[in-house]
Amino acid sequence: MWPRCMIGLLQAQKTLVMSSTQTMAGPAGKERLCGLLLLSALTACQPSASEIDADALEKQADEWAGRFISTLQPTLQQAMRDDGPVHAITVCSEQAPQIAAALAKESGWAVTRVSLQPRNISSASPDDWERSVLQRFDQRQRAGEPGAELRAFEVLDGEFRYMQAQLTGPLCLTCHGQNISDDVRSALAEHYPGDLATGYAAGEIRGGISLRRAL
Ligand code: HEC
Repeated sequence: MWPRCMIGLLQAQKTLVMSSTQTMAGPAGKERLCGLLLLSALTACQPSASEIDADALEKQADEWAGRFISTLQPTLQQAMRDDGPVHAITVCSEQAPQIAAALAKESGWAVTRVSLQPRNISSASPDDWERSVLQRFDQRQRAGEPGAELRAFEVLDGEFRYMQAQLTGPLCLTCHGQNISDDVRSALAEHYPGDLATGYAAGEIRGGISLRRAL
């Protein structure tokens, strides 16, 4: 029954927000987070000009993450169908960052993909917040939450941060699974020395889409 979460100047409440997200799990956890944010906004008595609507920002981030997936996946599927997985590796490495950059320009959100076992070590290694969220995603999935619904957000250092879990489906296993063909394996080794992103089973959390924007 919380109204929309109106948040006052959040820097001051950072500690509170961070500790609340430690216990954040599922919809109930989110409500508790929203409640705390609302409470801290009221305590801070900030005028409306400095308020942030966390629910609206989360919804926005969710939609842009959805746009990212719904743009990348058909491109990948098409490339796999037309020219096979070895060619599709190039599509992944070139198109994914291009799609993310185009979305960033259109939306104002920085969009990246990160993983606890990155393939592209330079672009996909998580920062501290992303790492802890990905670890919590794994725990939450083990505790029974549907992986596809895992989301997290937080206000941190003047930014709104958002993550959504990305699971491995059957298509993904061609390049991220346990039985990767020799030609795909050697193409991956050539492009990505130190690749950690193989050995997954279907339904595991491959990583997350991470969005952030300055407040
Ligand atoms: C044709 C091979 C191929 C397929 C199929 C594929 N990927 Fe990838 N994936 C890659 C490559 C190559 C990269 C590295 C891209 C780059 O350099 O940014 C990557 C990177 C990623 C990343 C970014 C983090 C990282 O480890 O670099 C995620 C998340 C990811 N893939 C998830 C998936 C999911 C989910 C699917 C299925 C829907 C999938 N991939 C299907 C080849 C593939």
